Amino acid sequence: MCGCAVTLIFAIIILNGNYLGADDSIEFQNKLPAKLIWAVEGDHVELPCDVTPPRPTDSVSMVLWFKDDSGIPLYSLDARGGVLNNSVHAALVNDLGKKSFFLVGDGHQRARLKIANVTFNDQGVFRCRVDFANSPTRNYRVNLTLVEQPTNPVIYDAQGKEVTGIGGPFLEGYDLFLSCQVAGGRPKPSVTWWRDGQLLDGVVDSPIVNGASGKFTVNQLFVGSVTRALWGAKLECRAQAGPLGKPVVREVPLDIYLKPAVVKIVLDTEVIYAGRPVGARCETWGSSPAARIVWMLDGNLIRDPSIVSTQRSNSTVSKLALVVGREDDAKELTCRAENPRFPGGVLEHQKVLRVSYAPVVLAHMAKGYDPETLREGDDLKLVCEVDSNPRPDTITWYHDEALIEHNVTGGTLVASETLTLRSLTLAHSGEYICVASNAVGEGRSHPVLIHMKYAPRCREGYEVREVGALRQESLSLRCEVEAVPGDTVRFSWTFNGTLGDVLPLPGTKARNKGLTSTFEYTVKAESDFGTLACWASNSVGRQRRPCLFNVVPAKKPEPPLDCSLRNESSALEVNCVPGSDGGLRQHFVLEVRGASGSSTGLHTPQNDQGVVGEAPPICEARNQRPFFQLHCLEAGFEYTMSVFAVNEKGRSDPVLLENVRIAGPPPDRTEKSKIYNNDEPLEVITSKSAAYSVVLVVALIGGAALVLVGIGIMIGLVICRRRNSPPPSPGPDDFTTPTYVPAQRIEPRVKYSSDRRRSYRTSLFLEESRHEPDLLQQVELDLHS
Ligand SMILES: *[C@@H]1O[C@H](CO)[C@@H](O)[C@H](O)[C@H]1NC(C)=O
Ligand SMILES: *[C@@H]1O[C@H](CO)[C@@H](O)[C@H](O)[C@H]1NC(C)=O
Ligand SMILES: *[C@@H]1O[C@H](CO)[C@@H](O)[C@H](O)[C@H]1NC(C)=O
Ligand SMILES: *[C@@H]1O[C@H](CO)[C@@H](O)[C@H](O)[C@H]1NC(C)=O
Ligand SMILES: *[C@@H]1O[C@H](CO)[C@@H](O)[C@H](O)[C@H]1NC(C)=O
Ligand SMILES: *[C@@H]1O[C@H](CO)[C@@H](O)[C@H](O)[C@H]1NC(C)=O
Ligand SMILES: *[C@@H]1O[C@H](CO)[C@@H](O)[C@H](O)[C@H]1NC(C)=O
Repeated sequence: MCGCAVTLIFAIIILNGNYLGADDSIEFQNKLPAKLIWAVEGDHVELPCDVTPPRPTDSVSMVLWFKDDSGIPLYSLDARGGVLNNSVHAALVNDLGKKSFFLVGDGHQRARLKIANVTFNDQGVFRCRVDFANSPTRNYRVNLTLVEQPTNPVIYDAQGKEVTGIGGPFLEGYDLFLSCQVAGGRPKPSVTWWRDGQLLDGVVDSPIVNGASGKFTVNQLFVGSVTRALWGAKLECRAQAGPLGKPVVREVPLDIYLKPAVVKIVLDTEVIYAGRPVGARCETWGSSPAARIVWMLDGNLIRDPSIVSTQRSNSTVSKLALVVGREDDAKELTCRAENPRFPGGVLEHQKVLRVSYAPVVLAHMAKGYDPETLREGDDLKLVCEVDSNPRPDTITWYHDEALIEHNVTGGTLVASETLTLRSLTLAHSGEYICVASNAVGEGRSHPVLIHMKYAPRCREGYEVREVGALRQESLSLRCEVEAVPGDTVRFSWTFNGTLGDVLPLPGTKARNKGLTSTFEYTVKAESDFGTLACWASNSVGRQRRPCLFNVVPAKKPEPPLDCSLRNESSALEVNCVPGSDGGLRQHFVLEVRGASGSSTGLHTPQNDQGVVGEAPPICEARNQRPFFQLHCLEAGFEYTMSVFAVNEKGRSDPVLLENVRIAGPPPDRTEKSKIYNNDEPLEVITSKSAAYSVVLVVALIGGAALVLVGIGIMIGLVICRRRNSPPPSPGPDDFTTPTYVPAQRIEPRVKYSSDRRRSYRTSLFLEESRHEPDLLQQVELDLHS
């Protein structure tokens, strides 16, 4: 203790006398703790030194700054004058000395050595030695250390590859790893990850090498699941050596791949009709890079050149003109947005299509019905299969284009989709179609053909026929039937004699062909007259009622019926209905004669049989049918026509058409028999009844006179004829072009008579005397009476 005190006092004395000679042992001084002062190169730094005297009464006499082991102070403050403010500063003439200045501060508390523009050379341990007037010298040690900037951060990815520009790409939902590494730096730098001023990761992950941290400082950023929020972000890695160190920043823009966030199909219209295009639009956004859009129908890619896709930075729109058919109803339309860079970065939207279409109709027989075995009396059920959307409103059935109505009593049952026909008849044959309609339209099925099979039956109109036969005549009896199937029809013939005995007839006499059988039959005896029956059978069965031939003795035919006249363009037509032919083939004859009502003929030629009054016809027509066209009639004359039928047994009674007159002017002849002058105006006769009556009376008188004269002439002529050859009679050939009654149906008086026939037949030649052109109209009226 005493030794120490002695040394201290000694030291003070020495220092007081000669500060250059101060002898502080290095070992001693090195034991003093050194205060660490950080500085940045180029900045200024202040090294503190407490100059406060231990006792207030004491005062600082000298402040000396040493650096490192140097024994020469680099800076001195001589305060021996008493006041620090006015003390003498002195610095070593070197770099450090020049830029150093000791700031006294106030109250001695904050005295420090300020070094401007500090450099790495200035690092070291500084010692501040303070000498007091009456107190022992104090030493302070300051360790001046310059901050060392770390290197620029280097970024590595998970694969250990250096990231030079943009980081990534990183996939949404996957992890992100970036390692930021700096080398060097003093104090040990902090390496941190930031985004937009926010700290992401402040934990340094420096590897520990051999129990000590190495040269590198590393911060590994790990994000477990990348979110959309990171899209477009810029990360920063900051390295900073101590609080004084300037941060060294490395920016890393991120490339983030995003899945499409939203995809949506929008259709133009709610109701889709088959065959009509519908606009479909698919929008997606949120994908990065922009998504590609793919359309699928029922899982199959739609390849349509009309698809238009528009890509923006992160949205895509695709438009499609979709044409669907009825088969596409209930199918799924899919819009798939896929990020081409993002495996599995797919988002889909599905829409089930509801396609409206007109019914597609299929008609067929219900199960269990065989179209080949349908027979009369069977039931039949038809089914109408309708494929439509929406469901059909109506289903109707047609039979040969006629609507089928539900009719329980008629055995026709129309249910929603079926048609039941009870107890089929032949009338049910034909085509059945089913028609369904809905709001979109109408559909018709193909026809279902119903061929009824049925046993043979007589062809209509051939059930019973009467055949007139002559003795020894060979008849061909033709039996015609209808049957389905018609290719396997067999025939047999029976004879029902007058006694009621039924005998089979030899099949050898029959020639069968298809649906007809022709039987050669000869009436040899009276007993051969009777009824022949023709029976046919096919695979369905035997004919129920035979076709009958009543073989009766042949008769004369019956007269034709319902004869009528008609003026046609070029001829007068006579048309009748045939009467019974008496069992033999008949034909028809029409004879034209002069009217019977005219005055007794000038000539009454006798026929071969010597029948008086049967004048030969003016003309005659024959026809297989009772239809005649007459060209031989002349205007202005009145005729009687007789129509009759003729067969091998003889001719029928005639039908008489009387007072047939042809309108038009008569042939221009100046005959003696004329009553009126041609030139006499018609009006006089028709309008002036008084004059007419007078004329009529005169005419009658004149006519009577003429008749008398005529008789006289006839007598004369007869006498003359006895002597000479007869003069040529004026025949019908002399007549000029005939004209006819107007084109209207004329109902003539028709008489059926045999006894009076002769009396209606008159001589044609009397007509000459009846040329009365002025009375034509009245005669025409007569025709109707
Ligand atoms: C010394 O300087 C300090 C601070 O500038 C001041 O407060 C003090 O009065 C001065 N002393 C003298 C003696 O000038
Ligand atoms: C600081 O020191 C360096 C090196 O000695 C010198 O180049 C520089 O000019 C100085 N700066 C100032 C402001 O004195
Ligand atoms: C000064 O401080 C630095 C940093 O702590 C240290 O590395 C160095 O060894 C110190 N110097 C002395 C002489 O203590
Ligand atoms: C990209 O998508 C986001 C939504 O994920 C949206 O907010 C943004 O506006 C879009 N950007 C562009 C350029 O369309
Ligand atoms: C129903 O059928 C019966 C028998 O065919 C027929 O007489 C009747 O007129 C039909 N009713 C209707 C409403 O058609
Ligand atoms: C045969 O003729 C008789 C009398 O004419 C008739 O009663 C009977 O039904 C006929 N038989 C046949 C099979 O036609
Ligand atoms: C008969 O018909 C023909 C043609 O239509 C016509 O020219 C003629 O005048 C008619 N005859 C009478 C008398 O009307």
